Amino acid sequence: MAETRSRIASRVGALPPSGIRRFFDLVEKMPEAVSLGIGEPDFVTPWRIRETAIYSLERGHTHYTPNQGTRELREKLASYLARKFGAAYDPDAELLITVGASEAIDVALRTILEPGDGVLVPQPCFVSYVPCVVLAGGCARPVSTVAEEGFRVQVEGLAQADDGNARALLMGYPNNPTGATLTRADVEGVVGYAAERDLLVVSDEIYAELTYDGSHVSVASVPGGKERTILIGGFSKAWAMTGWRLGFAAGPAEIIEAMTKLHSYTVMCPPTVAQEAAVEALEGCEGEVDEMRREYNQRRRVVVNRLNAMGLTCFEPRGAFYAFPSIASTGMGSEEFAERLLREEKVAVVPGAAFGDCGEGFVRCSYATSMSVLEEALGRIRAFVERVGE
Ligand SMILES: Cc1ncc(COP(=O)(O)O)c(C=O)c1O
Repeated sequence: MAETRSRIASRVGALPPSGIRRFFDLVEKMPEAVSLGIGEPDFVTPWRIRETAIYSLERGHTHYTPNQGTRELREKLASYLARKFGAAYDPDAELLITVGASEAIDVALRTILEPGDGVLVPQPCFVSYVPCVVLAGGCARPVSTVAEEGFRVQVEGLAQADDGNARALLMGYPNNPTGATLTRADVEGVVGYAAERDLLVVSDEIYAELTYDGSHVSVASVPGGKERTILIGGFSKAWAMTGWRLGFAAGPAEIIEAMTKLHSYTVMCPPTVAQEAAVEALEGCEGEVDEMRREYNQRRRVVVNRLNAMGLTCFEPRGAFYAFPSIASTGMGSEEFAERLLREEKVAVVPGAAFGDCGEGFVRCSYATSMSVLEEALGRIRAFVERVGE
């Protein structure tokens, strides 16, 4: 009999399942659990955006759009990026509207990597980065960052992880899971290193609108940055539009053209209704975004103060909607801490190790949930920490 071959391609079979997924499977079986695990806004998309989508459907706008996205949205996006990110992009040649930032990350990597190319990936980082690098044929080179340096990527760290074979740097600031942001000097340092080593930078800035000192510095805004950067963003976080599946990539024309080719063969175009709604997001929702940011900021202060007070030392997150406290004082590993907290107190947080080896010793607590849920969860975490410390 012929030897049976696995039906699953080896590169897919070899991918470890997401540490987050395994955890959420446990949470799902526990409806009474309070969750600080989820990485999406608790807010519903602002009404003006939903209303625009309803009108779009009423007018029968139910067909494909151009592969690159509607011209109207690309024009609005170009002026938004010039205004907020300090980078001027040509809406015809340098922008691509994608199915979430997720698609932009995947297509960017598949467009620029040859098999075996190294990609520097500062960690802790979003769980999709390394799998996307691997599926694009690249080799991820983790770059550790540490709480003592505010989880900011530093040139020395990049140089240490770079084996000379790196083609690109893939990073996300404001950061999921740490809430870290980069200073202008950090960004200039990173771009300087990328220029010296001729690296492309894939910069996932999806949390750019969610900084609490108004300090986002785009990689595309510093001298020498724009020409070697694929800037990635999206509507999921600041506009509370996770379910609409809309993001974008901005970058050098030849790269965007090649990315558009790949995207046209796989998704054709993002949902038309989402693209029309996103025009309203960029045009008329500054007040709503400000309001959500204010609310996250209040929660952030409460969460960070309370975690520190119970001995879970928490670096001050300056962006996104996550706190990343150290659990060293409990003597437990992050998986053990998260699993016991879930079983014993019915609170879900995500083990830091899910975001890279250097995330071990920490857990991620999302504050994209109501103050009452946060209060309840923090009370239970305190009870747990006190009990295990006895
Ligand atoms: C850093 C980061 N990038 C990208 C994404 C995916 O975003 P989207 O919903 O636009 O695909 C997430 C979602 O959690 C994220 O945290």
